[in-house]
Amino acid sequence: MNMVDIIYKKREGQVLTKEEIDYFVTGYTDGNIPDYQAAALLMAIYFRGMNKEETYELTRAMKYSGDTVDLSRIKGIKVDKHSTGGVGDKTTLIVGPLAAACGVPIAKMSGRGLGFTGGTVDKMEAIPGFRTTVDAEDFIHLVNDIGLSVIGQTSHIAPADKKIYALRDVTATVDNLSLITSSIMSKKLASGSDAIVLDVKCGNGAFMESMEEAVELGELMVEIGKADGKKTIAVITDMNQPLGYAVGNSLEVMEAIDTLKGKGPADITELSLVLAGYMIYAGEKASTYEEGYKMAEEALESGSALKKLAGFIEGQGGDPLVTENYLLFPQPTCHQDVIADRDGYIGEIEAKAIGLASQHSGAGRAKKEDQIDLSAGILLLKKVGDTVKTGDILATVYGRDSEKVMKGAEEAGRAFEVVEDRPEKEALIKKII
Ligand code: URA
Repeated sequence: MNMVDIIYKKREGQVLTKEEIDYFVTGYTDGNIPDYQAAALLMAIYFRGMNKEETYELTRAMKYSGDTVDLSRIKGIKVDKHSTGGVGDKTTLIVGPLAAACGVPIAKMSGRGLGFTGGTVDKMEAIPGFRTTVDAEDFIHLVNDIGLSVIGQTSHIAPADKKIYALRDVTATVDNLSLITSSIMSKKLASGSDAIVLDVKCGNGAFMESMEEAVELGELMVEIGKADGKKTIAVITDMNQPLGYAVGNSLEVMEAIDTLKGKGPADITELSLVLAGYMIYAGEKASTYEEGYKMAEEALESGSALKKLAGFIEGQGGDPLVTENYLLFPQPTCHQDVIADRDGYIGEIEAKAIGLASQHSGAGRAKKEDQIDLSAGILLLKKVGDTVKTGDILATVYGRDSEKVMKGAEEAGRAFEVVEDRPEKEALIKKII
Protein backbone atom coordinates (compact mmCIF):
# COMPACT_ATOMS: atom_id res chain seq x y z
CA MET A 1 0.00 0.00 0.00
CA ASN A 2 1.27 3.51 -0.66
CA MET A 3 -0.01 7.07 -0.26
CA VAL A 4 0.08 7.96 -3.97
CA ASP A 5 -2.41 5.17 -4.76
CA ILE A 6 -4.67 6.24 -1.87
CA ILE A 7 -4.62 9.89 -2.99
CA TYR A 8 -5.29 8.81 -6.61
CA LYS A 9 -8.21 6.60 -5.55
CA LYS A 10 -9.90 9.39 -3.61
CA ARG A 11 -9.11 11.94 -6.34
CA GLU A 12 -11.05 9.69 -8.72
CA GLY A 13 -14.00 9.59 -6.30
CA GLN A 14 -13.56 6.00 -5.17
CA VAL A 15 -14.30 4.61 -1.71
CA LEU A 16 -11.30 4.02 0.58
CA THR A 17 -11.04 0.77 2.53
CA LYS A 18 -10.60 0.48 6.31
CA GLU A 19 -6.97 -0.63 5.69
CA GLU A 20 -6.22 2.40 3.49
CA ILE A 21 -7.72 4.80 6.06
CA ASP A 22 -5.74 3.12 8.86
CA TYR A 23 -2.57 3.33 6.75
CA PHE A 24 -3.04 7.10 6.30
CA VAL A 25 -3.98 7.88 9.94
CA THR A 26 -1.22 5.74 11.47
CA GLY A 27 1.43 6.86 9.00
CA TYR A 28 0.61 10.57 9.32
CA THR A 29 0.45 10.45 13.14
CA ASP A 30 3.83 8.65 13.29
CA GLY A 31 5.44 11.15 10.96
CA ASN A 32 6.03 8.61 8.15
CA ILE A 33 3.67 10.34 5.73
CA PRO A 34 4.71 13.89 4.83
CA ASP A 35 2.41 16.93 5.11
CA TYR A 36 2.23 17.38 1.32
CA GLN A 37 0.72 13.92 0.78
CA ALA A 38 -1.65 14.28 3.73
CA ALA A 39 -2.71 17.71 2.40
CA ALA A 40 -3.37 16.25 -1.06
CA LEU A 41 -5.54 13.50 0.42
CA LEU A 42 -7.47 16.00 2.57
CA MET A 43 -8.18 18.13 -0.49
CA ALA A 44 -9.32 15.05 -2.43
CA ILE A 45 -11.63 14.15 0.50
CA TYR A 46 -12.85 17.77 0.56
CA PHE A 47 -13.91 17.63 -3.10
CA ARG A 48 -14.96 13.97 -3.41
CA GLY A 49 -16.39 13.45 0.09
CA MET A 50 -16.50 10.26 2.12
CA ASN A 51 -19.45 7.94 2.61
CA LYS A 52 -20.72 6.99 6.10
CA GLU A 53 -18.54 3.85 6.35
CA GLU A 54 -15.39 5.77 5.40
CA THR A 55 -16.25 8.52 7.91
CA TYR A 56 -16.84 5.92 10.61
CA GLU A 57 -13.50 4.22 9.83
CA LEU A 58 -11.67 7.57 9.81
CA THR A 59 -13.22 8.45 13.20
CA ARG A 60 -12.32 5.05 14.64
CA ALA A 61 -8.72 5.21 13.37
CA MET A 62 -8.31 8.71 14.84
CA LYS A 63 -9.90 7.67 18.16
CA TYR A 64 -7.35 4.84 18.53
CA SER A 65 -4.39 6.96 17.40
CA GLY A 66 -3.70 7.71 21.09
CA ASP A 67 -4.99 6.93 24.58
CA THR A 68 -8.61 6.21 25.35
CA VAL A 69 -9.76 7.34 28.80
CA ASP A 70 -11.16 4.77 31.22
CA LEU A 71 -13.85 6.39 33.38
CA SER A 72 -15.19 3.10 34.76
CA ARG A 73 -14.18 4.05 38.34
CA ILE A 74 -16.64 6.94 38.22
CA LYS A 75 -20.07 5.87 39.42
CA GLY A 76 -23.09 6.43 37.18
CA ILE A 77 -23.62 7.24 33.51
CA LYS A 78 -21.05 9.83 32.49
CA VAL A 79 -22.37 12.42 30.04
CA ASP A 80 -20.27 14.67 27.83
CA LYS A 81 -21.39 17.75 25.93
CA HIS A 82 -19.76 19.33 22.91
CA SER A 83 -20.43 22.43 20.87
CA THR A 84 -19.28 22.57 17.24
CA GLY A 85 -17.98 26.08 17.95
CA GLY A 86 -19.58 29.49 18.25
CA VAL A 87 -19.13 33.02 19.58
CA GLY A 88 -19.99 33.83 23.20
CA ASP A 89 -20.67 30.16 23.91
CA LYS A 90 -20.06 29.73 27.63
CA THR A 91 -22.64 26.97 28.10
CA THR A 92 -20.19 24.33 29.41
CA LEU A 93 -19.72 26.45 32.55
CA ILE A 94 -23.51 26.47 33.04
CA VAL A 95 -24.70 23.05 31.85
CA GLY A 96 -21.88 21.22 33.68
CA PRO A 97 -23.04 22.52 37.10
CA LEU A 98 -26.74 22.16 36.17
CA ALA A 99 -26.41 18.49 35.14
CA ALA A 100 -24.01 17.67 38.00
CA ALA A 101 -26.42 19.26 40.52
CA CYS A 102 -29.03 16.79 39.21
CA GLY A 103 -26.71 13.83 39.84
CA VAL A 104 -25.15 13.36 36.38
CA PRO A 105 -21.37 12.82 36.62
CA ILE A 106 -19.48 15.10 34.24
CA ALA A 107 -15.87 14.23 33.41
CA LYS A 108 -15.12 16.58 30.57
CA MET A 109 -12.14 17.53 28.47
CA SER A 110 -12.21 20.88 26.71
CA GLY A 111 -10.04 22.83 24.31
CA ARG A 112 -8.60 26.31 23.92
CA GLY A 113 -9.94 28.97 21.60
CA LEU A 114 -8.45 29.52 18.17
CA GLY A 115 -9.35 32.27 15.73
CA PHE A 116 -12.85 33.66 16.15
CA THR A 117 -14.13 30.90 18.47
CA GLY A 118 -13.45 30.80 22.20
CA GLY A 119 -12.47 27.76 24.25
CA THR A 120 -13.60 26.64 27.70
CA VAL A 121 -10.02 26.06 28.94
CA ASP A 122 -9.13 29.73 28.37
CA LYS A 123 -12.34 30.84 30.06
CA MET A 124 -11.62 28.71 33.14
CA GLU A 125 -8.09 30.14 33.34
CA ALA A 126 -9.65 33.56 33.91
CA ILE A 127 -10.57 32.28 37.39
CA PRO A 128 -7.64 33.05 39.76
CA GLY A 129 -5.82 29.86 40.77
CA PHE A 130 -7.91 27.52 38.60
CA ARG A 131 -5.96 24.47 37.33
CA THR A 132 -6.95 23.10 33.94
CA THR A 133 -4.30 20.37 34.14
CA VAL A 134 -5.16 17.64 36.62
CA ASP A 135 -3.65 14.14 36.70
CA ALA A 136 -5.82 11.13 35.86
CA GLU A 137 -6.28 9.99 39.49
CA ASP A 138 -7.33 13.47 40.70
CA PHE A 139 -9.70 13.82 37.73
CA ILE A 140 -11.53 10.63 38.77
CA HIS A 141 -11.60 11.71 42.45
CA LEU A 142 -12.93 15.17 41.58
CA VAL A 143 -15.81 13.70 39.59
CA ASN A 144 -16.61 11.13 42.30
CA ASP A 145 -16.42 13.76 45.10
CA ILE A 146 -17.89 16.86 43.46
CA GLY A 147 -19.71 15.41 40.46
CA LEU A 148 -17.94 17.61 37.93
CA SER A 149 -14.47 18.18 36.55
CA VAL A 150 -13.44 19.96 33.35
CA ILE A 151 -9.81 19.80 32.27
CA GLY A 152 -7.73 20.65 29.21
CA GLN A 153 -7.50 17.89 26.67
CA THR A 154 -4.14 16.10 26.87
CA SER A 155 -1.98 15.62 23.79
CA HIS A 156 -2.43 11.84 24.19
CA ILE A 157 -6.12 12.01 23.18
CA ALA A 158 -6.61 11.53 19.42
CA PRO A 159 -3.14 12.86 18.42
CA ALA A 160 -4.09 12.18 14.80
CA ASP A 161 -6.73 14.90 15.06
CA LYS A 162 -4.22 17.37 16.44
CA LYS A 163 -1.99 16.92 13.37
CA ILE A 164 -4.79 16.62 10.82
CA TYR A 165 -6.70 19.63 12.23
CA ALA A 166 -3.57 21.81 12.11
CA LEU A 167 -3.06 20.81 8.48
CA ARG A 168 -6.74 21.41 7.59
CA ASP A 169 -6.47 24.84 9.16
CA VAL A 170 -3.74 25.89 6.68
CA THR A 171 -5.05 24.05 3.59
CA ALA A 172 -8.66 25.37 3.52
CA THR A 173 -10.08 21.93 4.27
CA VAL A 174 -11.77 22.57 7.64
CA ASP A 175 -15.39 22.87 6.53
CA ASN A 176 -15.99 19.35 5.27
CA LEU A 177 -18.67 17.18 6.84
CA SER A 178 -16.63 13.96 7.19
CA LEU A 179 -13.52 15.78 8.39
CA ILE A 180 -15.43 17.80 11.03
CA THR A 181 -17.32 14.68 12.16
CA SER A 182 -14.20 12.53 12.53
CA SER A 183 -12.32 15.36 14.27
CA ILE A 184 -15.02 15.99 16.89
CA MET A 185 -16.19 12.43 17.40
CA SER A 186 -12.70 10.85 17.62
CA LYS A 187 -11.96 13.10 20.63
CA LYS A 188 -15.37 12.57 22.21
CA LEU A 189 -15.25 8.79 21.79
CA ALA A 190 -11.69 8.62 23.19
CA SER A 191 -12.69 10.69 26.25
CA GLY A 192 -14.63 7.82 27.83
CA SER A 193 -18.11 9.18 28.61
CA ASP A 194 -21.14 6.91 28.13
CA ALA A 195 -23.38 9.49 26.45
CA ILE A 196 -22.80 12.63 24.40
CA VAL A 197 -25.00 15.70 23.84
CA LEU A 198 -23.88 17.66 20.77
CA ASP A 199 -24.74 21.33 20.28
CA VAL A 200 -24.50 21.77 16.50
CA LYS A 201 -24.31 25.46 15.69
CA CYS A 202 -26.00 26.78 12.57
CA GLY A 203 -25.67 30.27 11.11
CA ASN A 204 -23.20 32.98 10.09
CA GLY A 205 -20.97 32.36 13.14
CA ALA A 206 -20.78 28.58 12.65
CA PHE A 207 -18.95 26.14 10.38
CA MET A 208 -22.37 25.06 9.11
CA GLU A 209 -24.18 28.15 7.83
CA SER A 210 -27.29 26.46 6.41
CA MET A 211 -29.85 24.33 8.20
CA GLU A 212 -29.37 21.49 5.67
CA GLU A 213 -25.62 21.30 6.37
CA ALA A 214 -26.11 21.50 10.15
CA VAL A 215 -28.72 18.71 10.09
CA GLU A 216 -26.46 16.56 7.93
CA LEU A 217 -23.57 17.09 10.36
CA GLY A 218 -25.80 16.38 13.39
CA GLU A 219 -27.18 13.19 11.83
CA LEU A 220 -23.75 11.90 10.87
CA MET A 221 -22.27 12.58 14.32
CA VAL A 222 -25.24 10.92 16.05
CA GLU A 223 -24.97 7.88 13.80
CA ILE A 224 -21.24 7.53 14.48
CA GLY A 225 -21.68 8.00 18.24
CA LYS A 226 -24.39 5.33 18.30
CA ALA A 227 -22.29 2.96 16.15
CA ASP A 228 -19.62 3.24 18.86
CA GLY A 229 -22.16 2.26 21.53
CA LYS A 230 -22.76 5.76 23.01
CA LYS A 231 -26.13 7.33 23.54
CA THR A 232 -25.80 10.43 21.31
CA ILE A 233 -28.19 13.35 20.90
CA ALA A 234 -27.67 16.42 18.70
CA VAL A 235 -29.40 19.77 19.24
CA ILE A 236 -29.23 22.15 16.26
CA THR A 237 -29.05 25.72 17.60
CA ASP A 238 -28.86 29.23 16.19
CA MET A 239 -25.50 30.97 15.73
CA ASN A 240 -26.58 33.98 13.68
CA GLN A 241 -25.54 36.36 16.46
CA PRO A 242 -23.30 35.87 19.52
CA LEU A 243 -24.82 33.92 22.41
CA GLY A 244 -25.65 36.17 25.33
CA TYR A 245 -24.04 39.60 25.66
CA ALA A 246 -20.47 38.71 26.69
CA VAL A 247 -17.64 37.62 24.37
CA GLY A 248 -14.16 37.16 25.88
CA ASN A 249 -12.82 35.07 28.71
CA SER A 250 -13.45 36.86 32.07
CA LEU A 251 -16.57 38.51 30.67
CA GLU A 252 -18.03 35.15 29.67
CA VAL A 253 -17.33 33.51 33.03
CA MET A 254 -19.11 36.42 34.76
CA GLU A 255 -22.09 35.97 32.44
CA ALA A 256 -22.13 32.22 33.15
CA ILE A 257 -22.21 32.96 36.91
CA ASP A 258 -24.99 35.52 36.39
CA THR A 259 -26.94 32.85 34.48
CA LEU A 260 -26.61 30.39 37.36
CA LYS A 261 -27.90 33.19 39.64
CA GLY A 262 -31.02 33.41 37.44
CA LYS A 263 -29.91 36.78 36.02
CA GLY A 264 -28.51 35.60 32.69
CA PRO A 265 -29.53 36.56 29.15
CA ALA A 266 -32.66 34.79 27.89
CA ASP A 267 -30.89 32.94 25.03
CA ILE A 268 -28.05 31.56 27.19
CA THR A 269 -30.48 30.56 29.93
CA GLU A 270 -32.82 28.75 27.53
CA LEU A 271 -30.05 26.98 25.60
CA SER A 272 -28.40 25.86 28.86
CA LEU A 273 -31.67 24.46 30.24
CA VAL A 274 -32.33 22.57 26.99
CA LEU A 275 -28.81 21.07 26.81
CA ALA A 276 -28.84 20.23 30.53
CA GLY A 277 -32.31 18.68 30.11
CA TYR A 278 -30.95 16.34 27.43
CA MET A 279 -27.84 15.57 29.51
CA ILE A 280 -29.97 14.67 32.54
CA TYR A 281 -32.16 12.48 30.34
CA ALA A 282 -29.12 10.85 28.66
CA GLY A 283 -27.63 10.25 32.13
CA GLU A 284 -30.87 8.47 33.11
CA LYS A 285 -31.61 10.78 36.02
CA ALA A 286 -34.89 11.64 34.27
CA SER A 287 -37.12 9.33 32.27
CA THR A 288 -37.97 11.99 29.66
CA TYR A 289 -36.28 15.11 28.30
CA GLU A 290 -39.14 17.23 29.68
CA GLU A 291 -38.48 15.90 33.17
CA GLY A 292 -34.75 16.58 32.70
CA TYR A 293 -35.52 20.18 31.67
CA LYS A 294 -37.66 20.67 34.79
CA MET A 295 -34.92 19.27 37.01
CA ALA A 296 -32.40 21.67 35.42
CA GLU A 297 -34.81 24.57 36.04
CA GLU A 298 -35.13 23.60 39.70
CA ALA A 299 -31.32 23.36 40.05
CA LEU A 300 -31.12 26.89 38.64
CA GLU A 301 -33.88 28.34 40.80
CA SER A 302 -32.77 26.68 44.03
CA GLY A 303 -29.16 27.84 43.64
CA SER A 304 -27.86 24.25 43.82
CA ALA A 305 -26.17 24.58 40.40
CA LEU A 306 -24.43 27.80 41.48
CA LYS A 307 -23.18 25.99 44.59
CA LYS A 308 -21.97 23.17 42.34
CA LEU A 309 -20.03 25.68 40.23
CA ALA A 310 -18.35 27.12 43.37
CA GLY A 311 -17.45 23.57 44.51
CA PHE A 312 -16.05 22.74 41.08
CA ILE A 313 -13.92 25.92 41.05
CA GLU A 314 -12.58 25.20 44.55
CA GLY A 315 -11.91 21.53 43.67
CA GLN A 316 -9.62 22.62 40.84
CA GLY A 317 -7.72 25.16 42.95
CA GLY A 318 -9.66 28.28 41.91
CA ASP A 319 -11.06 30.97 44.18
CA PRO A 320 -14.80 30.23 44.63
CA LEU A 321 -15.32 33.82 45.83
CA VAL A 322 -15.34 34.86 42.15
CA THR A 323 -18.97 33.79 42.14
CA GLU A 324 -19.65 36.72 44.52
CA ASN A 325 -16.95 39.24 43.69
CA TYR A 326 -16.26 39.86 39.99
CA LEU A 327 -13.38 42.23 40.86
CA LEU A 328 -11.34 39.07 41.49
CA PHE A 329 -11.24 38.46 37.71
CA PRO A 330 -8.44 40.00 35.59
CA GLN A 331 -9.49 43.63 35.13
CA PRO A 332 -9.18 45.62 31.88
CA THR A 333 -7.41 48.99 31.90
CA CYS A 334 -9.14 50.55 28.92
CA HIS A 335 -12.38 50.40 27.00
CA GLN A 336 -13.97 51.81 23.86
CA ASP A 337 -17.68 52.17 23.12
CA VAL A 338 -19.24 51.35 19.75
CA ILE A 339 -21.88 54.00 18.97
CA ALA A 340 -24.96 53.79 16.71
CA ASP A 341 -24.95 56.32 13.86
CA ARG A 342 -28.62 55.95 12.90
CA ASP A 343 -32.07 55.11 14.30
CA GLY A 344 -33.78 51.78 13.64
CA TYR A 345 -33.59 48.17 14.74
CA ILE A 346 -30.62 45.85 15.03
CA GLY A 347 -31.06 43.67 11.92
CA GLU A 348 -27.93 41.58 12.25
CA ILE A 349 -24.87 41.15 14.46
CA GLU A 350 -22.42 39.09 12.45
CA ALA A 351 -21.20 36.55 14.99
CA LYS A 352 -17.95 35.70 13.22
CA ALA A 353 -17.03 39.40 12.97
CA ILE A 354 -17.69 39.89 16.70
CA GLY A 355 -15.56 36.80 17.44
CA LEU A 356 -12.72 38.23 15.36
CA ALA A 357 -13.10 41.70 16.95
CA SER A 358 -12.87 40.07 20.39
CA GLN A 359 -9.79 38.10 19.27
CA HIS A 360 -8.14 41.30 17.99
CA SER A 361 -8.94 43.17 21.23
CA GLY A 362 -6.61 40.61 22.88
CA ALA A 363 -9.06 37.89 23.95
CA GLY A 364 -8.09 35.29 21.34
CA ARG A 365 -5.18 33.92 19.38
CA ALA A 366 -4.34 33.69 15.72
CA LYS A 367 -1.64 31.08 16.39
CA LYS A 368 -1.58 28.45 19.12
CA GLU A 369 1.47 30.04 20.79
CA ASP A 370 -0.09 33.54 21.15
CA GLN A 371 -0.61 34.91 24.67
CA ILE A 372 -4.11 36.13 25.42
CA ASP A 373 -5.44 38.98 27.56
CA LEU A 374 -8.00 37.33 29.89
CA SER A 375 -9.62 40.70 30.67
CA ALA A 376 -10.26 41.51 27.00
CA GLY A 377 -13.47 41.11 25.05
CA ILE A 378 -16.76 42.68 24.11
CA LEU A 379 -19.97 43.37 26.00
CA LEU A 380 -22.88 43.81 23.65
CA LEU A 381 -25.59 46.19 24.82
CA LYS A 382 -27.97 45.46 21.95
CA LYS A 383 -29.09 42.23 20.32
CA VAL A 384 -30.94 41.47 17.08
CA GLY A 385 -34.46 42.99 17.13
CA ASP A 386 -33.65 45.70 19.71
CA THR A 387 -34.55 49.31 18.88
CA VAL A 388 -31.66 51.72 18.56
CA LYS A 389 -31.30 55.51 18.47
CA THR A 390 -28.40 57.52 17.07
CA GLY A 391 -25.79 57.87 19.83
CA ASP A 392 -26.78 54.68 21.69
CA ILE A 393 -23.96 52.43 22.82
CA LEU A 394 -24.16 49.16 20.83
CA ALA A 395 -21.21 47.46 22.53
CA THR A 396 -18.17 48.17 24.68
CA VAL A 397 -14.78 46.64 23.95
CA TYR A 398 -12.43 46.00 26.91
CA GLY A 399 -8.77 45.09 27.29
CA ARG A 400 -5.33 46.12 28.49
CA ASP A 401 -3.84 47.28 25.20
CA SER A 402 -5.50 50.49 23.98
CA GLU A 403 -4.44 49.97 20.33
CA LYS A 404 -5.95 46.48 20.27
CA VAL A 405 -9.10 47.72 22.00
CA MET A 406 -9.52 50.48 19.37
CA LYS A 407 -9.05 47.95 16.55
CA GLY A 408 -11.55 45.60 18.20
CA ALA A 409 -14.09 48.45 18.52
CA GLU A 410 -13.75 49.41 14.84
CA GLU A 411 -14.33 45.81 13.79
CA ALA A 412 -17.21 45.32 16.25
CA GLY A 413 -18.89 48.43 14.83
CA ARG A 414 -18.88 46.88 11.35
CA ALA A 415 -20.56 43.71 12.67
CA PHE A 416 -23.79 45.59 13.49
CA GLU A 417 -26.42 46.23 10.85
CA VAL A 418 -29.15 48.76 11.70
CA VAL A 419 -32.34 48.38 9.61
CA GLU A 420 -35.65 50.24 9.34
CA ASP A 421 -38.02 47.33 10.05
CA ARG A 422 -37.87 45.03 13.05
CA PRO A 423 -36.42 41.70 11.79
CA GLU A 424 -38.07 38.30 12.28
CA LYS A 425 -36.78 36.45 15.35
CA GLU A 426 -34.72 33.31 14.61
CA ALA A 427 -35.66 30.24 16.65
CA LEU A 428 -32.85 29.44 19.12
CA ILE A 429 -33.49 25.68 19.18
CA LYS A 430 -33.95 24.53 15.61
CA LYS A 431 -34.07 20.73 15.69
CA ILE A 432 -33.31 17.71 17.87
CA ILE A 433 -31.71 14.61 16.35
N1 URA B 1 -14.18 21.40 16.13
C1 URA B 1 -13.31 20.38 16.06
O1 URA B 1 -12.83 19.87 17.07
N2 URA B 1 -12.98 19.91 14.83
C2 URA B 1 -13.48 20.41 13.70
O2 URA B 1 -13.14 19.94 12.63
C3 URA B 1 -14.38 21.49 13.78
C4 URA B 1 -14.73 21.97 15.03
